[in-house]
Amino acid sequence: MSPISHPNSHHASPTGQQRTTAILVTGAGGEMGHGLLSALNAARANDSLVESDARPAIIAVDIRELAPEIREQCDNAYVGDICDHALLERLLAMYEITEIYHLAALLSTRSEFAPETAHQVNVGGTLNLLHLASEQARSHGRTVRFFFPSSIAVYGLPDLATKRKAGAIDERHFCDPHTMYGCNKLAGEHLGRYYDHHYRKLAKDRFEHPVDFRSIRFPGIISAETMPSGGTSDYGPEMIHAAAAGREYHCFVRPDSRIPFMTMPEAIDATMGLMRAPKENLGRSVYNVASFSPSAEDFADLVRRAFPKAVIKFEPDLGRQAIIDSWPETCDDSAARREWSWNPTHSLATAFSEYLLPRIASRYASSTSA
Ligand code: SER
Repeated sequence: MSPISHPNSHHASPTGQQRTTAILVTGAGGEMGHGLLSALNAARANDSLVESDARPAIIAVDIRELAPEIREQCDNAYVGDICDHALLERLLAMYEITEIYHLAALLSTRSEFAPETAHQVNVGGTLNLLHLASEQARSHGRTVRFFFPSSIAVYGLPDLATKRKAGAIDERHFCDPHTMYGCNKLAGEHLGRYYDHHYRKLAKDRFEHPVDFRSIRFPGIISAETMPSGGTSDYGPEMIHAAAAGREYHCFVRPDSRIPFMTMPEAIDATMGLMRAPKENLGRSVYNVASFSPSAEDFADLVRRAFPKAVIKFEPDLGRQAIIDSWPETCDDSAARREWSWNPTHSLATAFSEYLLPRIASRYASSTSA
């Protein structure tokens, strides 16, 4: 690990060492990390309540080396595995971590091919980070705010007829996931709530509320900048990126498949909105957020309108189709709207016209004109 070379605030650790105050982002090189690091940097720069040299460092952990444009948004970055206790111990010794955004995970399709590995990374890794947060809280005496991106994968509708009848599902119903990823995310939610409210309940030297745990059950997320990999909602973003790049697309679900989606900027807004909300406004630790819920055919229609030469063929994969059929058509996000003023920015049409098309067109301009 490289030494720290920036002028952020320092505090003495219990052992007398100087530690730098920091916000930790795991999985920073993934799709969400990209947008979240910009938002965290912007929020830090605009924080007029804190002197600039007292603002926390932003540190990243990822299993792979970060791309230069992501690396430059971090004060320091570490290549390593969230299951590696030695790495987390070193972070604990070097930093006084005040907030954690724990984005590292294996997504749903990939997890289904290696469920035990998925459990180790998605649950074991989350437990390690929650433990790190609680140790941090104990050492600096302040609760660590923890963000956990959960997913609509925690829901499991038993069959299509039930899915179509169910309407907008709230946070309490149908939490019977059909995938390892969904089981892992549900376990992460429960662990977070435990560390927040009940951790070491019987210990005499208990530190109450070491972790302020906040989680959002995200729908499929579509980014104009990056391509997902290993997810089951990937058909949405894949369809549009393929058309923009002039490639034929074979969609792995039926045209009538419907799940909720949102744009990446909406997902980042939701994350920042929940993390900045006063704790006393929050009546729960896990929230649905909703934006638009197109069928795969609705998606294909808009893609074809924007890219008249697009070739999209529907060739459902039975396994991935079954996963999509077990996820809700829409989610009830009234708690998020009420408690921390969540509001989506887009309809499917404006997501295309205002966000996806302008950005994707310029991203692929050189390859399509070639
Ligand atoms: N988009 C994720 C996936 O498909 C679900 O949260 O795995």
